[in-house]
Amino acid sequence: MSSLLETKIAARQHALREQGLLRQRKVLGVDHTLNTNASTSSPRFVFEGRAYVNFSSNDYLGLSRVPELAEALHLGAQTYGVGSGASPLVTGYSDAHLALERKLCDLTGHEAALLFCSGFSANTALMKTLFDQHDIVVADKLVHASIIDGLQDSGAQLKRFLHNSLESAERLLARHHASALITESVFSMDGDCAPIAQLSALCRQHHAWLVVDDAHGFAVLDGYHNAEAAKLIDVQVVTFGKALGCQGAAVLGSQALIDFLVSNAREYIYSTALSPANAALALAATQYSTAHPELQQQLLENIKLFKRLCREANVPLLGSDTAIQPLIIGDALQTLQVAEKLRAAGIWVGAIRPPTVPVGSARLRITLTAAHAAEDIAACVAQLAQVLSLVGVPLVTERQATDEHR
Ligand SMILES: Cc1ncc(COP(=O)(O)O)c(C=O)c1O
Repeated sequence: MSSLLETKIAARQHALREQGLLRQRKVLGVDHTLNTNASTSSPRFVFEGRAYVNFSSNDYLGLSRVPELAEALHLGAQTYGVGSGASPLVTGYSDAHLALERKLCDLTGHEAALLFCSGFSANTALMKTLFDQHDIVVADKLVHASIIDGLQDSGAQLKRFLHNSLESAERLLARHHASALITESVFSMDGDCAPIAQLSALCRQHHAWLVVDDAHGFAVLDGYHNAEAAKLIDVQVVTFGKALGCQGAAVLGSQALIDFLVSNAREYIYSTALSPANAALALAATQYSTAHPELQQQLLENIKLFKRLCREANVPLLGSDTAIQPLIIGDALQTLQVAEKLRAAGIWVGAIRPPTVPVGSARLRITLTAAHAAEDIAACVAQLAQVLSLVGVPLVTERQATDEHR
């Protein structure tokens, strides 16, 4: 007889499979024919013996494949060893960590920083340490799962405002004596940007902190990696696994906030520190991205090219101007079907389904990077147009798509 847990697992997996929501990992290999110079070839990988162009990664500047950064990681490991060996409050905090924290403060204008092994742990640690059952927190409807999980753990009362709506945010701030408003700079699944300056003004008016998850904005396009950031944003979470092409994250804010987190954030106190080699790598990646503004420029050009070609082919995008270009299909199974057909043409695009996005808004999440070659972008759009008409997805206008799914 099967145990209670075996029965539960089997039933839940069965239900997910029926709804097209089962998640499975795919083992990807390196395309050894690839030129490792990030600026001359589109990102590719091999799956089951076949090469695919990757339109699914958050490596927006192509930094994960830059030889100088591989060298920086190697040098970091030779200098400090391959791991940190302890939590930061024991012996896991080194001058490599301090140097990265200082650099991040210089880039954003914040007083102090605290490093985490991932953006997910930075967000959950921040939320559950900063807030408690006495706080009311106002957050955009589409903030990341790590923020929601952390807020749930904190016991704070959560009030959600309509996505990117200043009116809705203001209504909640006026009605509740909120401690903070939380949003993302660039939304991970929609690719649109929050009105940070206006939200900041609202927060000042209502004596609430503005907390911004800058995972998809930091180091890419005109995000908040400038000395003005701290004037608008009280707490900024930046991650290294996206535009910086490596791993880890930081919470940036006042010295008082960071001291408070050092003494109270359980994820920080009871976890092995980010390796110093990874800290050295992230520092080198920030320096590299600053020294190579042409990568941001190339990314912008690739985004423009993709959008123009989609417009010409009537491929219905959501209207984003960033590297994240969603195409809403609605039904989860049909979204998988479209992604499969694109794969048959050698193009790998993420099929994003609930609960990552709201029910009825399953989508392709196409991401562009500075490393994509123009001919691969053109091939991606041509295949998209063909596959969408093949499977009967209506080619609607941008405006319709935006209205329906907000
Ligand atoms: C908006 C946002 N915040 C935080 C995270 C978590 O960052 P990390 O991948 O470093 O854990 C993600 C990652 O998907 C994200 O999209």
